[in-house]
Amino acid sequence: MDSIENSKLLKLEAHLRSRIRGQDHVLPRIISLLKRGQLGLTKLNRPRGSFLFLGPTGVGKTETTIAFTDFIFGEDKLFRFDMSEYQTQESLGVLLGGKLGERGTLALACDRSRCGTLLFDEIEKAHTRVLDIFLQILDAARVTMANGETLDLSGFYIVFTTNIGGADLLNLQHSTFATMERHVLARAQQAMRPELFARITEKLVFNRLGYDHQLEIAQLLLNGELKFLREKGYELHPDKTVLPFVVQRGFHPKLGARPMRDAVEKLIGDAVAADLLAEGVSRGKLILNEMENAFTVVHPNGDH
Ligand SMILES: Nc1ncnc2c1ncn2[C@@H]1O[C@H](COP(=O)(O)OP(=O)(O)O)[C@@H](O)[C@H]1O
Ligand SMILES: [Mg+2]
Repeated sequence: MDSIENSKLLKLEAHLRSRIRGQDHVLPRIISLLKRGQLGLTKLNRPRGSFLFLGPTGVGKTETTIAFTDFIFGEDKLFRFDMSEYQTQESLGVLLGGKLGERGTLALACDRSRCGTLLFDEIEKAHTRVLDIFLQILDAARVTMANGETLDLSGFYIVFTTNIGGADLLNLQHSTFATMERHVLARAQQAMRPELFARITEKLVFNRLGYDHQLEIAQLLLNGELKFLREKGYELHPDKTVLPFVVQRGFHPKLGARPMRDAVEKLIGDAVAADLLAEGVSRGKLILNEMENAFTVVHPNGDH
Protein backbone atom coordinates (compact mmCIF):
# COMPACT_ATOMS: atom_id res chain seq x y z
CA MET A 1 0.00 0.00 0.00
CA ASP A 2 1.54 3.32 -1.03
CA SER A 3 1.37 6.68 0.72
CA ILE A 4 -1.34 7.99 -1.60
CA GLU A 5 -3.51 5.09 -0.53
CA ASN A 6 -2.65 5.75 3.12
CA SER A 7 -3.59 9.40 2.99
CA LYS A 8 -6.83 8.46 1.27
CA LEU A 9 -7.58 6.04 4.09
CA LEU A 10 -7.21 8.87 6.58
CA LYS A 11 -10.04 10.66 4.80
CA LEU A 12 -12.38 7.68 4.99
CA GLU A 13 -13.93 8.83 8.24
CA ALA A 14 -14.74 12.32 6.97
CA HIS A 15 -16.23 10.82 3.82
CA LEU A 16 -18.50 8.45 5.71
CA ARG A 17 -19.56 11.17 8.13
CA SER A 18 -20.46 13.45 5.25
CA ARG A 19 -22.80 10.86 3.76
CA ILE A 20 -24.26 9.00 6.73
CA ARG A 21 -26.34 10.67 9.43
CA GLY A 22 -27.47 9.49 12.83
CA GLN A 23 -25.27 6.39 12.95
CA ASP A 24 -22.20 7.80 14.63
CA HIS A 25 -22.06 4.87 17.05
CA VAL A 26 -21.33 2.34 14.28
CA LEU A 27 -19.00 4.37 12.04
CA PRO A 28 -15.84 4.10 14.21
CA ARG A 29 -16.06 0.30 14.25
CA ILE A 30 -16.67 0.14 10.53
CA ILE A 31 -13.75 2.47 9.86
CA SER A 32 -11.46 0.54 12.16
CA LEU A 33 -12.10 -2.76 10.37
CA LEU A 34 -11.80 -1.15 6.94
CA LYS A 35 -8.45 0.38 7.86
CA ARG A 36 -7.14 -2.95 9.08
CA GLY A 37 -8.51 -4.61 5.96
CA GLN A 38 -6.91 -2.07 3.63
CA LEU A 39 -3.55 -2.24 5.41
CA GLY A 40 -3.48 -6.03 5.15
CA LEU A 41 -3.78 -6.54 8.90
CA THR A 42 -6.72 -8.92 8.78
CA LYS A 43 -6.19 -12.67 8.54
CA LEU A 44 -4.74 -14.23 5.43
CA ASN A 45 -7.08 -16.35 3.32
CA ARG A 46 -10.12 -14.64 4.74
CA PRO A 47 -12.22 -11.86 3.30
CA ARG A 48 -10.74 -8.42 4.05
CA GLY A 49 -13.45 -7.96 6.66
CA SER A 50 -16.98 -9.08 7.41
CA PHE A 51 -19.94 -7.16 8.77
CA LEU A 52 -23.47 -7.91 9.88
CA PHE A 53 -25.66 -4.80 9.74
CA LEU A 54 -28.86 -4.99 11.78
CA GLY A 55 -31.65 -2.56 12.58
CA PRO A 56 -34.79 -1.12 11.00
CA THR A 57 -35.42 -0.54 7.29
CA GLY A 58 -34.22 2.62 5.57
CA VAL A 59 -31.73 3.85 8.15
CA GLY A 60 -28.50 3.67 6.15
CA LYS A 61 -27.25 0.07 6.10
CA THR A 62 -26.99 -0.14 2.33
CA GLU A 63 -26.05 3.53 2.01
CA THR A 64 -23.07 2.99 4.35
CA THR A 65 -21.95 -0.01 2.32
CA ILE A 66 -22.18 1.95 -0.93
CA ALA A 67 -20.34 4.90 0.63
CA PHE A 68 -17.32 2.96 1.85
CA THR A 69 -17.12 0.76 -1.23
CA ASP A 70 -17.17 3.74 -3.61
CA PHE A 71 -14.58 5.51 -1.51
CA ILE A 72 -12.15 2.61 -1.22
CA PHE A 73 -12.53 0.91 -4.58
CA GLY A 74 -14.25 3.42 -6.86
CA GLU A 75 -17.61 2.96 -8.49
CA ASP A 76 -19.16 -0.35 -9.57
CA LYS A 77 -17.33 -2.49 -7.03
CA LEU A 78 -20.37 -3.28 -4.94
CA PHE A 79 -22.03 -6.57 -5.82
CA ARG A 80 -25.43 -7.02 -4.30
CA PHE A 81 -27.27 -10.27 -3.72
CA ASP A 82 -30.86 -10.05 -2.60
CA MET A 83 -31.40 -13.18 -0.51
CA SER A 84 -35.16 -13.10 -1.10
CA GLU A 85 -34.15 -14.44 -4.54
CA TYR A 86 -32.19 -17.29 -2.97
CA GLN A 87 -34.83 -19.01 -0.86
CA THR A 88 -35.00 -22.38 -2.57
CA GLN A 89 -32.60 -25.28 -3.02
CA GLU A 90 -32.42 -24.43 -6.74
CA SER A 91 -31.07 -20.99 -5.93
CA LEU A 92 -27.77 -22.66 -5.08
CA GLY A 93 -27.40 -23.20 -8.82
CA VAL A 94 -28.02 -19.52 -9.45
CA LEU A 95 -25.22 -18.62 -7.06
CA LEU A 96 -22.73 -21.33 -8.02
CA GLY A 97 -23.65 -21.96 -11.66
CA GLY A 98 -24.29 -25.23 -13.43
CA LYS A 99 -21.98 -28.22 -13.87
CA LEU A 100 -21.63 -27.48 -17.57
CA GLY A 101 -21.04 -23.93 -18.61
CA GLU A 102 -23.50 -21.40 -17.16
CA ARG A 103 -21.72 -19.18 -14.64
CA GLY A 104 -23.25 -18.42 -11.27
CA THR A 105 -23.86 -14.93 -9.96
CA LEU A 106 -20.86 -15.15 -7.60
CA ALA A 107 -18.53 -16.03 -10.46
CA LEU A 108 -19.97 -13.21 -12.56
CA ALA A 109 -19.06 -10.75 -9.79
CA CYS A 110 -15.52 -12.14 -9.63
CA ASP A 111 -15.22 -11.94 -13.41
CA ARG A 112 -15.85 -8.21 -13.14
CA SER A 113 -13.51 -7.50 -10.24
CA ARG A 114 -10.96 -9.12 -7.94
CA CYS A 115 -11.85 -6.76 -5.10
CA GLY A 116 -14.80 -4.83 -3.75
CA THR A 117 -17.73 -5.59 -1.50
CA LEU A 118 -20.21 -8.44 -1.64
CA LEU A 119 -23.48 -7.38 -0.05
CA PHE A 120 -25.90 -10.14 0.92
CA ASP A 121 -29.20 -8.48 1.83
CA GLU A 122 -31.78 -10.03 4.16
CA ILE A 123 -29.83 -13.19 4.90
CA GLU A 124 -32.60 -14.55 7.09
CA LYS A 125 -34.37 -15.40 3.81
CA ALA A 126 -31.54 -17.44 2.28
CA HIS A 127 -31.85 -21.23 1.91
CA THR A 128 -29.70 -23.21 4.38
CA ARG A 129 -27.48 -24.50 1.55
CA VAL A 130 -26.73 -20.88 0.68
CA LEU A 131 -25.80 -20.27 4.32
CA ASP A 132 -23.26 -23.11 3.99
CA ILE A 133 -21.62 -21.11 1.21
CA PHE A 134 -21.38 -18.09 3.51
CA LEU A 135 -19.51 -20.24 6.04
CA GLN A 136 -17.00 -21.22 3.34
CA ILE A 137 -16.58 -17.60 2.32
CA LEU A 138 -15.98 -16.42 5.89
CA ASP A 139 -13.65 -19.31 6.74
CA ALA A 140 -11.47 -19.47 3.69
CA ALA A 141 -12.53 -16.74 1.27
CA ARG A 142 -12.92 -19.54 -1.26
CA VAL A 143 -15.95 -21.01 -2.93
CA THR A 144 -16.02 -23.99 -5.24
CA MET A 145 -18.39 -23.52 -8.16
CA ALA A 146 -20.54 -26.27 -9.63
CA ASN A 147 -18.05 -26.72 -12.49
CA GLY A 148 -15.18 -27.32 -10.05
CA GLU A 149 -13.60 -23.90 -10.45
CA THR A 150 -12.59 -22.18 -7.19
CA LEU A 151 -13.22 -18.49 -6.60
CA ASP A 152 -10.85 -16.46 -4.46
CA LEU A 153 -12.80 -13.84 -2.51
CA SER A 154 -9.94 -12.62 -0.30
CA GLY A 155 -10.03 -9.19 -1.96
CA PHE A 156 -13.59 -8.53 -0.86
CA TYR A 157 -15.39 -7.16 2.16
CA ILE A 158 -18.50 -9.11 3.02
CA VAL A 159 -21.58 -7.31 4.30
CA PHE A 160 -24.66 -9.18 5.47
CA THR A 161 -27.84 -7.37 6.39
CA THR A 162 -30.80 -8.76 8.25
CA ASN A 163 -34.16 -7.44 9.37
CA ILE A 164 -34.25 -9.85 12.31
CA GLY A 165 -35.28 -7.86 15.37
CA GLY A 166 -35.52 -4.67 13.31
CA ALA A 167 -39.30 -4.40 13.68
CA ASP A 168 -38.93 -4.85 17.44
CA LEU A 169 -36.77 -1.75 17.50
CA LEU A 170 -39.74 0.29 16.37
CA ASN A 171 -41.84 -1.16 19.17
CA LEU A 172 -39.20 -0.54 21.81
CA GLN A 173 -39.66 3.18 21.22
CA HIS A 174 -39.02 4.19 24.78
CA SER A 175 -36.03 2.02 25.60
CA THR A 176 -32.47 3.25 25.51
CA PHE A 177 -30.41 2.39 22.48
CA ALA A 178 -28.22 0.05 24.53
CA THR A 179 -31.29 -1.99 25.50
CA MET A 180 -32.52 -2.17 21.93
CA GLU A 181 -29.09 -3.12 20.66
CA ARG A 182 -28.79 -5.97 23.13
CA HIS A 183 -32.27 -7.16 22.22
CA VAL A 184 -31.64 -7.14 18.46
CA LEU A 185 -28.29 -8.90 18.76
CA ALA A 186 -29.81 -11.57 20.99
CA ARG A 187 -32.68 -12.10 18.54
CA ALA A 188 -30.28 -12.38 15.62
CA GLN A 189 -28.05 -14.80 17.45
CA GLN A 190 -31.04 -17.04 18.19
CA ALA A 191 -32.44 -16.86 14.69
CA MET A 192 -29.21 -17.26 12.75
CA ARG A 193 -26.95 -20.28 12.65
CA PRO A 194 -24.61 -19.77 15.64
CA GLU A 195 -21.49 -20.68 13.66
CA LEU A 196 -22.35 -18.09 11.02
CA PHE A 197 -23.03 -15.41 13.63
CA ALA A 198 -19.75 -16.20 15.38
CA ARG A 199 -17.65 -15.93 12.22
CA ILE A 200 -18.75 -12.41 11.31
CA THR A 201 -16.23 -9.89 12.60
CA GLU A 202 -18.38 -6.80 13.26
CA LYS A 203 -22.06 -7.06 14.18
CA LEU A 204 -23.55 -3.59 14.27
CA VAL A 205 -27.05 -2.39 15.10
CA PHE A 206 -28.14 0.72 13.21
CA ASN A 207 -30.42 3.09 15.07
CA ARG A 208 -33.81 4.53 14.17
CA LEU A 209 -33.55 8.01 12.72
CA GLY A 210 -34.78 10.84 14.93
CA TYR A 211 -36.42 13.95 13.46
CA ASP A 212 -33.20 15.99 13.43
CA HIS A 213 -31.42 13.30 11.46
CA GLN A 214 -34.37 12.99 9.10
CA LEU A 215 -33.99 16.71 8.41
CA GLU A 216 -30.26 16.30 7.82
CA ILE A 217 -30.83 13.48 5.33
CA ALA A 218 -33.48 15.57 3.57
CA GLN A 219 -30.88 18.36 3.36
CA LEU A 220 -28.28 16.01 1.85
CA LEU A 221 -30.69 14.81 -0.82
CA LEU A 222 -31.96 18.32 -1.46
CA ASN A 223 -28.39 19.57 -1.93
CA GLY A 224 -27.82 16.88 -4.50
CA GLU A 225 -30.93 17.84 -6.43
CA LEU A 226 -30.17 21.58 -6.29
CA LYS A 227 -26.64 20.95 -7.55
CA PHE A 228 -28.02 18.91 -10.43
CA LEU A 229 -30.39 21.76 -11.37
CA ARG A 230 -27.65 24.40 -10.99
CA GLU A 231 -25.56 22.49 -13.51
CA LYS A 232 -28.51 22.83 -15.85
CA GLY A 233 -28.53 26.60 -15.23
CA TYR A 234 -31.45 26.65 -12.82
CA GLU A 235 -30.68 28.37 -9.50
CA LEU A 236 -33.12 27.46 -6.74
CA HIS A 237 -33.07 28.64 -3.14
CA PRO A 238 -35.33 26.68 -0.81
CA ASP A 239 -37.05 28.64 1.97
CA LYS A 240 -37.67 27.25 5.45
CA THR A 241 -40.89 25.46 4.49
CA VAL A 242 -39.05 23.05 2.20
CA LEU A 243 -37.12 20.71 4.51
CA PRO A 244 -39.95 19.83 6.90
CA PHE A 245 -42.18 19.07 3.94
CA VAL A 246 -39.55 16.78 2.38
CA VAL A 247 -39.39 14.90 5.67
CA GLN A 248 -43.17 14.71 5.90
CA ARG A 249 -43.34 13.19 2.41
CA GLY A 250 -40.08 11.26 2.43
CA PHE A 251 -39.88 9.62 5.81
CA HIS A 252 -42.01 6.68 6.82
CA PRO A 253 -41.91 4.94 10.23
CA LYS A 254 -41.66 1.48 8.62
CA LEU A 255 -39.57 2.38 5.56
CA GLY A 256 -37.27 4.92 7.17
CA ALA A 257 -35.72 7.36 4.70
CA ARG A 258 -36.19 5.03 1.72
CA PRO A 259 -38.91 7.16 0.06
CA MET A 260 -36.95 10.39 0.58
CA ARG A 261 -34.89 10.47 -2.62
CA ASP A 262 -37.92 9.88 -4.85
CA ALA A 263 -39.92 12.44 -2.88
CA VAL A 264 -37.23 15.10 -3.37
CA GLU A 265 -36.88 14.38 -7.08
CA LYS A 266 -40.61 14.39 -7.69
CA LEU A 267 -41.50 17.44 -5.58
CA ILE A 268 -38.76 19.61 -7.04
CA GLY A 269 -39.05 18.19 -10.53
CA ASP A 270 -42.77 18.96 -10.64
CA ALA A 271 -42.23 22.52 -9.40
CA VAL A 272 -39.49 23.20 -11.93
CA ALA A 273 -41.44 21.66 -14.79
CA ALA A 274 -44.49 23.79 -13.94
CA ASP A 275 -42.31 26.91 -13.76
CA LEU A 276 -40.56 26.22 -17.06
CA LEU A 277 -43.87 25.60 -18.82
CA ALA A 278 -45.31 28.86 -17.45
CA GLU A 279 -42.27 31.12 -17.62
CA GLY A 280 -39.92 29.65 -20.19
CA VAL A 281 -36.22 29.83 -19.29
CA SER A 282 -35.82 31.23 -15.78
CA ARG A 283 -32.76 33.21 -14.72
CA GLY A 284 -31.58 34.76 -11.49
CA LYS A 285 -32.42 33.78 -7.97
CA LEU A 286 -35.57 31.72 -7.66
CA ILE A 287 -37.17 30.75 -4.39
CA LEU A 288 -38.57 27.29 -3.78
CA ASN A 289 -41.31 26.99 -1.20
CA GLU A 290 -44.11 24.76 -0.09
CA MET A 291 -47.69 25.81 -0.66
CA GLU A 292 -50.76 23.64 -0.34
CA ASN A 293 -48.85 20.36 -0.28
CA ALA A 294 -46.63 21.02 -3.27
CA PHE A 295 -43.51 22.97 -4.08
CA THR A 296 -43.69 26.13 -6.16
CA VAL A 297 -41.03 28.28 -7.76
CA VAL A 298 -41.32 31.97 -6.87
CA HIS A 299 -39.75 34.77 -8.95
CA PRO A 300 -38.85 37.35 -6.32
CA ASN A 301 -38.51 40.30 -8.70
CA GLY A 302 -41.30 39.27 -10.97
CA ASP A 303 -38.76 38.98 -13.78
CA HIS A 304 -37.78 35.87 -15.68
N1 LIG B 1 -28.33 7.26 8.04
C1 LIG B 1 -28.52 7.76 6.82
N2 LIG B 1 -27.73 8.76 6.35
C2 LIG B 1 -27.93 9.26 5.10
N3 LIG B 1 -28.88 8.83 4.25
C3 LIG B 1 -29.70 7.83 4.65
C4 LIG B 1 -29.54 7.24 5.94
N4 LIG B 1 -30.47 6.29 6.09
C5 LIG B 1 -31.17 6.26 4.94
N5 LIG B 1 -30.72 7.19 4.08
C6 LIG B 1 -31.33 7.48 2.76
O1 LIG B 1 -32.37 6.54 2.56
C7 LIG B 1 -32.08 5.66 1.49
C8 LIG B 1 -32.38 4.22 1.90
O2 LIG B 1 -31.46 3.82 2.91
P1 LIG B 1 -30.74 2.38 2.90
O3 LIG B 1 -29.35 2.56 3.36
O4 LIG B 1 -30.93 1.75 1.55
O5 LIG B 1 -31.62 1.62 3.97
P2 LIG B 1 -31.37 0.20 4.66
O6 LIG B 1 -30.94 0.51 6.06
O7 LIG B 1 -32.73 -0.45 4.63
O8 LIG B 1 -30.34 -0.53 3.86
C9 LIG B 1 -30.63 5.90 1.14
O9 LIG B 1 -30.42 5.77 -0.24
C10 LIG B 1 -30.38 7.32 1.62
O10 LIG B 1 -30.78 8.24 0.61
MG1 LIG C 1 -30.57 -2.19 2.59
